[in-house]
Amino acid sequence: MSFAGPLAALFSRPPIVLAPMEDVSDLPFRRMCREFGATLTMTEFVRAERLLSSCRAAARKVTLAPDDRPTAIQIYGADAGLLMEAAQVAAAAGPAFVDLNCGCWVPRVARGGAGASWLRRPAAMVEMAARVVAATAPLPVTVKTRIGWGDEADMPIVDLARRLEDAGVAAITVHCRTAKMGHSGRADWSWAMRVQRAVRIPVVVNGDIRSADDARRALDETGAAGVMIGRAAIDAPWLFAEVRALLDRGERLPPLGLSERLALYARVLGDNVAQRGPKFGVLVTRRHARAWFASFAEGEALRAQLMTAATERECLALLAACRSSLANAA
Ligand SMILES: Cc1cc2nc3c(=O)[nH]c(=O)nc-3n(C[C@H](O)[C@H](O)[C@H](O)COP(=O)(O)O)c2cc1C
Repeated sequence: MSFAGPLAALFSRPPIVLAPMEDVSDLPFRRMCREFGATLTMTEFVRAERLLSSCRAAARKVTLAPDDRPTAIQIYGADAGLLMEAAQVAAAAGPAFVDLNCGCWVPRVARGGAGASWLRRPAAMVEMAARVVAATAPLPVTVKTRIGWGDEADMPIVDLARRLEDAGVAAITVHCRTAKMGHSGRADWSWAMRVQRAVRIPVVVNGDIRSADDARRALDETGAAGVMIGRAAIDAPWLFAEVRALLDRGERLPPLGLSERLALYARVLGDNVAQRGPKFGVLVTRRHARAWFASFAEGEALRAQLMTAATERECLALLAACRSSLANAA
Protein backbone atom coordinates (compact mmCIF):
# COMPACT_ATOMS: atom_id res chain seq x y z
CA MET A 1 0.00 0.00 0.00
CA SER A 2 1.39 3.43 -0.83
CA PHE A 3 0.43 6.54 1.09
CA ALA A 4 -0.17 10.06 -0.05
CA GLY A 5 0.08 13.02 2.26
CA PRO A 6 2.78 14.70 4.29
CA LEU A 7 4.27 11.50 5.72
CA ALA A 8 4.45 9.62 2.39
CA ALA A 9 8.26 9.61 2.28
CA LEU A 10 8.59 8.33 5.87
CA PHE A 11 6.19 5.50 5.07
CA SER A 12 7.56 4.60 1.62
CA ARG A 13 8.83 1.40 3.26
CA PRO A 14 7.53 0.21 6.65
CA PRO A 15 9.26 2.27 9.31
CA ILE A 16 10.48 0.50 12.44
CA VAL A 17 9.55 3.06 15.04
CA LEU A 18 11.05 3.40 18.50
CA ALA A 19 8.15 3.92 20.92
CA PRO A 20 7.88 6.97 23.13
CA MET A 21 8.73 5.80 26.66
CA GLU A 22 8.77 8.10 29.65
CA ASP A 23 12.25 8.53 31.10
CA VAL A 24 13.62 6.04 28.54
CA SER A 25 13.31 7.48 25.01
CA ASP A 26 15.82 10.27 25.57
CA LEU A 27 18.57 11.39 23.22
CA PRO A 28 21.15 8.66 24.08
CA PHE A 29 18.53 5.92 23.79
CA ARG A 30 17.15 7.28 20.51
CA ARG A 31 20.66 7.57 19.14
CA MET A 32 21.50 3.98 20.07
CA CYS A 33 18.28 2.61 18.55
CA ARG A 34 18.71 4.69 15.40
CA GLU A 35 22.24 3.35 14.93
CA PHE A 36 20.82 -0.16 15.01
CA GLY A 37 18.21 0.72 12.38
CA ALA A 38 15.20 2.40 13.99
CA THR A 39 13.89 4.51 11.12
CA LEU A 40 11.84 6.88 13.22
CA THR A 41 12.01 7.76 16.90
CA MET A 42 9.77 9.68 19.29
CA THR A 43 10.46 11.66 22.40
CA GLU A 44 8.79 10.58 25.60
CA PHE A 45 5.54 12.44 26.19
CA VAL A 46 5.79 16.01 27.42
CA ARG A 47 2.97 17.66 29.33
CA ALA A 48 1.51 20.66 27.46
CA GLU A 49 1.47 22.85 30.57
CA ARG A 50 5.17 22.16 31.21
CA LEU A 51 6.13 23.00 27.65
CA LEU A 52 4.31 26.30 27.98
CA SER A 53 5.95 27.22 31.29
CA SER A 54 9.66 27.76 31.54
CA CYS A 55 10.22 24.18 32.72
CA ARG A 56 13.83 23.27 31.90
CA ALA A 57 13.19 19.52 31.93
CA ALA A 58 10.40 19.91 29.35
CA ALA A 59 12.61 22.12 27.16
CA ARG A 60 15.37 19.50 27.32
CA LYS A 61 12.94 16.75 26.27
CA VAL A 62 12.03 18.58 23.07
CA THR A 63 15.54 19.66 22.12
CA LEU A 64 16.56 17.64 19.07
CA ALA A 65 20.21 17.27 18.10
CA PRO A 66 21.14 17.54 14.41
CA ASP A 67 21.89 13.79 14.22
CA ASP A 68 18.63 12.92 16.01
CA ARG A 69 16.30 12.90 13.01
CA PRO A 70 13.67 11.96 12.08
CA THR A 71 12.24 12.30 15.58
CA ALA A 72 8.67 13.20 16.46
CA ILE A 73 7.78 15.08 19.64
CA GLN A 74 4.92 13.65 21.67
CA ILE A 75 2.78 15.90 23.83
CA TYR A 76 -0.10 15.21 26.16
CA GLY A 77 -2.70 17.10 28.11
CA ALA A 78 -6.40 17.40 28.82
CA ASP A 79 -7.04 20.85 27.41
CA ALA A 80 -7.32 21.34 23.64
CA GLY A 81 -6.31 25.00 23.80
CA LEU A 82 -3.14 24.23 25.74
CA LEU A 83 -2.35 21.32 23.44
CA MET A 84 -2.64 23.68 20.43
CA GLU A 85 -0.18 26.10 21.99
CA ALA A 86 2.16 23.33 23.14
CA ALA A 87 2.13 21.80 19.65
CA GLN A 88 3.32 25.12 18.26
CA VAL A 89 6.17 25.22 20.77
CA ALA A 90 7.03 21.61 19.86
CA ALA A 91 6.87 22.44 16.15
CA ALA A 92 9.46 25.17 16.62
CA ALA A 93 11.96 22.50 17.74
CA GLY A 94 11.93 21.01 14.22
CA PRO A 95 10.44 17.51 14.74
CA ALA A 96 9.31 15.25 11.89
CA PHE A 97 5.79 15.73 13.25
CA VAL A 98 3.94 16.25 16.52
CA ASP A 99 2.26 13.23 18.10
CA LEU A 100 -0.71 13.50 20.46
CA ASN A 101 -0.71 10.99 23.29
CA CYS A 102 -4.24 9.62 23.64
CA GLY A 103 -3.19 6.27 25.04
CA CYS A 104 -1.53 6.67 28.42
CA TRP A 105 -3.53 4.72 30.99
CA VAL A 106 -1.45 5.65 34.06
CA PRO A 107 -3.87 7.16 36.63
CA ARG A 108 -1.83 10.33 37.26
CA VAL A 109 -2.24 11.12 33.52
CA ALA A 110 -5.64 9.64 32.63
CA ARG A 111 -7.43 10.75 35.82
CA GLY A 112 -7.20 14.40 34.81
CA GLY A 113 -8.64 13.81 31.33
CA ALA A 114 -5.35 13.44 29.42
CA GLY A 115 -3.84 10.39 27.67
CA ALA A 116 -6.19 7.44 27.23
CA SER A 117 -8.96 9.38 28.91
CA TRP A 118 -9.65 10.99 25.51
CA LEU A 119 -10.96 7.57 24.44
CA ARG A 120 -13.92 8.07 26.76
CA ARG A 121 -14.83 11.24 24.85
CA PRO A 122 -14.29 10.37 21.18
CA ALA A 123 -16.04 13.48 19.84
CA ALA A 124 -13.93 15.76 22.04
CA MET A 125 -10.81 13.87 21.00
CA VAL A 126 -11.53 14.38 17.29
CA GLU A 127 -12.28 18.05 17.83
CA MET A 128 -9.09 18.50 19.87
CA ALA A 129 -7.04 16.78 17.15
CA ALA A 130 -8.60 18.98 14.43
CA ARG A 131 -7.70 22.11 16.39
CA VAL A 132 -4.11 20.96 16.93
CA VAL A 133 -3.80 20.05 13.23
CA ALA A 134 -4.96 23.55 12.26
CA ALA A 135 -2.66 25.23 14.78
CA THR A 136 0.40 23.24 13.70
CA ALA A 137 -0.01 23.25 9.89
CA PRO A 138 1.90 22.56 7.73
CA LEU A 139 3.73 20.29 10.20
CA PRO A 140 1.88 16.94 10.34
CA VAL A 141 0.12 15.83 13.52
CA THR A 142 -0.33 12.17 14.43
CA VAL A 143 -2.15 10.34 17.24
CA LYS A 144 -1.01 7.41 19.37
CA THR A 145 -3.86 5.67 21.08
CA ARG A 146 -5.34 2.35 22.19
CA ILE A 147 -8.28 0.32 20.90
CA GLY A 148 -10.67 1.70 23.53
CA TRP A 149 -11.04 2.50 27.18
CA GLY A 150 -12.07 -1.00 28.11
CA ASP A 151 -15.71 -1.26 29.01
CA GLU A 152 -17.30 -0.49 25.64
CA ALA A 153 -19.48 -3.12 23.98
CA ASP A 154 -17.62 -2.33 20.74
CA MET A 155 -14.13 -0.89 20.64
CA PRO A 156 -14.32 2.64 19.22
CA ILE A 157 -10.96 2.61 17.44
CA VAL A 158 -12.08 1.90 13.85
CA ASP A 159 -14.71 4.62 13.70
CA LEU A 160 -12.47 6.95 15.68
CA ALA A 161 -9.59 6.45 13.24
CA ARG A 162 -11.84 7.41 10.30
CA ARG A 163 -12.90 10.56 12.11
CA LEU A 164 -9.30 11.42 13.04
CA GLU A 165 -8.34 11.00 9.38
CA ASP A 166 -11.14 13.39 8.41
CA ALA A 167 -9.84 15.81 11.05
CA GLY A 168 -6.50 15.94 9.23
CA VAL A 169 -4.45 13.59 11.40
CA ALA A 170 -1.56 12.28 9.27
CA ALA A 171 -1.00 8.84 10.86
CA ILE A 172 -2.23 6.77 13.79
CA THR A 173 -0.37 4.40 16.07
CA VAL A 174 -2.57 1.74 17.64
CA HIS A 175 -1.35 0.11 20.84
CA CYS A 176 -3.58 -2.93 20.47
CA ARG A 177 -4.82 -3.07 24.06
CA THR A 178 -7.52 -1.23 25.96
CA ALA A 179 -6.56 1.41 28.51
CA LYS A 180 -7.90 -0.81 31.27
CA MET A 181 -5.44 -3.54 30.29
CA GLY A 182 -2.44 -1.31 30.98
CA HIS A 183 0.41 -3.56 29.89
CA SER A 184 -1.27 -6.84 30.85
CA GLY A 185 -2.83 -9.45 28.57
CA ARG A 186 -1.91 -9.83 24.93
CA ALA A 187 -2.00 -7.09 22.34
CA ASP A 188 -4.59 -7.99 19.69
CA TRP A 189 -3.02 -6.87 16.40
CA SER A 190 -6.20 -7.62 14.47
CA TRP A 191 -7.40 -4.16 15.54
CA ALA A 192 -4.54 -2.56 13.63
CA MET A 193 -5.67 -4.52 10.56
CA ARG A 194 -9.25 -3.29 10.94
CA VAL A 195 -8.04 0.29 11.36
CA GLN A 196 -5.62 0.18 8.41
CA ARG A 197 -8.44 -1.19 6.20
CA ALA A 198 -10.68 1.69 7.23
CA VAL A 199 -8.31 4.61 6.55
CA ARG A 200 -5.91 5.78 3.85
CA ILE A 201 -3.41 7.31 6.24
CA PRO A 202 -0.58 5.14 7.64
CA VAL A 203 -1.35 3.00 10.70
CA VAL A 204 1.48 1.82 12.94
CA VAL A 205 0.90 -1.41 14.86
CA ASN A 206 2.19 -1.50 18.44
CA GLY A 207 2.17 -3.91 21.37
CA ASP A 208 4.21 -7.04 22.17
CA ILE A 209 6.59 -6.89 19.20
CA ARG A 210 9.59 -8.62 20.75
CA SER A 211 11.45 -10.25 17.86
CA ALA A 212 12.14 -9.81 14.16
CA ASP A 213 9.61 -12.57 13.46
CA ASP A 214 6.99 -10.71 15.53
CA ALA A 215 7.62 -7.56 13.48
CA ARG A 216 7.25 -9.39 10.18
CA ARG A 217 4.13 -11.19 11.38
CA ALA A 218 2.58 -7.95 12.68
CA LEU A 219 3.11 -6.31 9.28
CA ASP A 220 1.95 -9.36 7.30
CA GLU A 221 -1.12 -10.02 9.45
CA THR A 222 -2.32 -6.42 9.67
CA GLY A 223 -1.17 -4.73 6.46
CA ALA A 224 -0.14 -1.86 8.73
CA ALA A 225 2.22 0.79 7.39
CA GLY A 226 4.82 0.37 10.13
CA VAL A 227 5.68 -1.28 13.44
CA MET A 228 6.49 0.34 16.77
CA ILE A 229 8.73 -1.31 19.35
CA GLY A 230 8.84 -0.26 23.00
CA ARG A 231 9.94 -2.48 25.88
CA ALA A 232 11.88 -4.94 23.73
CA ALA A 233 14.15 -2.08 22.64
CA ILE A 234 15.31 -1.62 26.24
CA ASP A 235 16.23 -5.30 26.47
CA ALA A 236 17.68 -5.56 22.97
CA PRO A 237 18.23 -2.32 21.02
CA TRP A 238 19.94 -4.44 18.36
CA LEU A 239 16.46 -5.80 17.59
CA PHE A 240 16.09 -2.94 15.08
CA ALA A 241 18.99 -4.38 13.06
CA GLU A 242 17.43 -7.85 13.27
CA VAL A 243 14.06 -6.54 12.05
CA ARG A 244 15.61 -4.57 9.20
CA ALA A 245 17.68 -7.57 8.08
CA LEU A 246 14.63 -9.83 8.06
CA LEU A 247 12.34 -7.36 6.30
CA ASP A 248 14.86 -6.14 3.73
CA ARG A 249 16.93 -9.23 3.00
CA GLY A 250 15.09 -12.16 4.56
CA GLU A 251 18.21 -12.60 6.70
CA ARG A 252 18.29 -13.70 10.35
CA LEU A 253 21.01 -11.96 12.32
CA PRO A 254 22.53 -13.73 15.32
CA PRO A 255 21.99 -11.94 18.65
CA LEU A 256 24.68 -9.44 19.58
CA GLY A 257 27.68 -11.14 21.23
CA LEU A 258 28.87 -10.44 24.77
CA SER A 259 31.95 -8.42 23.79
CA GLU A 260 29.83 -6.13 21.58
CA ARG A 261 27.36 -5.72 24.45
CA LEU A 262 30.19 -4.75 26.79
CA ALA A 263 31.34 -2.08 24.35
CA LEU A 264 27.78 -0.86 23.84
CA TYR A 265 27.15 -0.61 27.58
CA ALA A 266 30.31 1.46 28.03
CA ARG A 267 29.26 3.79 25.27
CA VAL A 268 25.66 4.30 26.33
CA LEU A 269 26.86 4.77 29.91
CA GLY A 270 29.09 7.62 28.72
CA ASP A 271 26.22 9.15 26.75
CA ASN A 272 23.84 8.86 29.72
CA VAL A 273 26.36 10.45 32.08
CA ALA A 274 26.87 13.29 29.61
CA GLN A 275 23.10 13.76 29.29
CA ARG A 276 21.94 13.17 32.89
CA GLY A 277 24.98 13.76 35.06
CA PRO A 278 27.23 11.30 36.93
CA LYS A 279 24.67 9.87 39.37
CA PHE A 280 21.57 9.44 37.22
CA GLY A 281 23.62 8.49 34.15
CA VAL A 282 24.87 5.41 36.01
CA LEU A 283 21.42 4.63 37.45
CA VAL A 284 19.46 4.79 34.18
CA THR A 285 22.00 2.63 32.35
CA ARG A 286 21.32 -0.19 34.85
CA ARG A 287 17.96 -0.82 33.17
CA HIS A 288 19.89 -2.63 30.42
CA ALA A 289 22.17 -4.73 32.63
CA ARG A 290 19.91 -7.71 33.32
CA ALA A 291 18.70 -8.37 29.80
CA TRP A 292 22.02 -7.63 28.13
CA PHE A 293 24.26 -9.75 30.35
CA ALA A 294 22.33 -12.31 32.41
CA SER A 295 21.96 -14.79 29.54
CA PHE A 296 25.76 -15.30 29.41
CA ALA A 297 27.55 -17.44 32.01
CA GLU A 298 30.26 -14.75 32.24
CA GLY A 299 27.67 -12.00 32.36
CA GLU A 300 25.65 -12.94 35.43
CA ALA A 301 28.27 -11.75 37.95
CA LEU A 302 28.82 -8.61 35.91
CA ARG A 303 25.10 -7.83 35.97
CA ALA A 304 25.01 -8.09 39.75
CA GLN A 305 28.10 -5.86 40.11
CA LEU A 306 26.75 -3.23 37.72
CA MET A 307 23.60 -2.98 39.86
CA THR A 308 25.65 -1.70 42.78
CA ALA A 309 28.52 0.17 41.09
CA ALA A 310 27.91 3.84 41.83
CA THR A 311 30.25 5.63 39.44
CA GLU A 312 31.01 5.55 35.73
CA ARG A 313 34.63 4.71 36.52
CA GLU A 314 33.61 1.66 38.59
CA CYS A 315 31.29 0.45 35.84
CA LEU A 316 33.97 0.86 33.19
CA ALA A 317 36.44 -1.12 35.32
CA LEU A 318 33.91 -3.96 35.67
CA LEU A 319 33.27 -3.99 31.93
CA ALA A 320 37.02 -4.01 31.23
CA ALA A 321 37.59 -6.88 33.69
CA CYS A 322 34.87 -8.94 32.00
CA ARG A 323 36.39 -8.15 28.59
CA SER A 324 39.85 -9.32 29.66
CA SER A 325 38.51 -12.50 31.23
CA LEU A 326 36.77 -13.22 27.92
CA ALA A 327 40.03 -12.58 26.05
CA ASN A 328 41.97 -14.88 28.43
CA ALA A 329 39.41 -17.63 28.02
CA ALA A 330 39.60 -17.44 24.20
C1 LIG B 1 8.50 2.71 30.70
C2 LIG B 1 7.43 3.04 29.69
C3 LIG B 1 7.13 4.36 29.42
C4 LIG B 1 6.17 4.69 28.46
N1 LIG B 1 5.94 6.01 28.16
C5 LIG B 1 5.11 6.32 27.12
C6 LIG B 1 5.00 7.66 26.66
O1 LIG B 1 5.66 8.59 27.15
N2 LIG B 1 4.14 7.90 25.63
C7 LIG B 1 3.40 6.88 25.03
O2 LIG B 1 2.66 7.14 24.09
N3 LIG B 1 3.51 5.62 25.45
C8 LIG B 1 4.36 5.31 26.45
N4 LIG B 1 4.54 4.00 26.79
C9 LIG B 1 3.85 2.94 26.02
C10 LIG B 1 4.74 2.47 24.84
O3 LIG B 1 5.00 3.52 23.94
C11 LIG B 1 4.08 1.30 24.08
O4 LIG B 1 2.86 1.75 23.54
C12 LIG B 1 3.82 0.10 24.98
O5 LIG B 1 4.93 -0.18 25.82
C13 LIG B 1 3.47 -1.16 24.15
O6 LIG B 1 4.53 -1.47 23.26
P1 LIG B 1 5.61 -2.65 23.60
O7 LIG B 1 4.84 -3.91 23.86
O8 LIG B 1 6.46 -2.73 22.37
O9 LIG B 1 6.35 -2.21 24.81
C14 LIG B 1 5.48 3.65 27.77
C15 LIG B 1 5.76 2.32 28.07
C16 LIG B 1 6.74 2.00 29.00
C17 LIG B 1 7.06 0.55 29.26
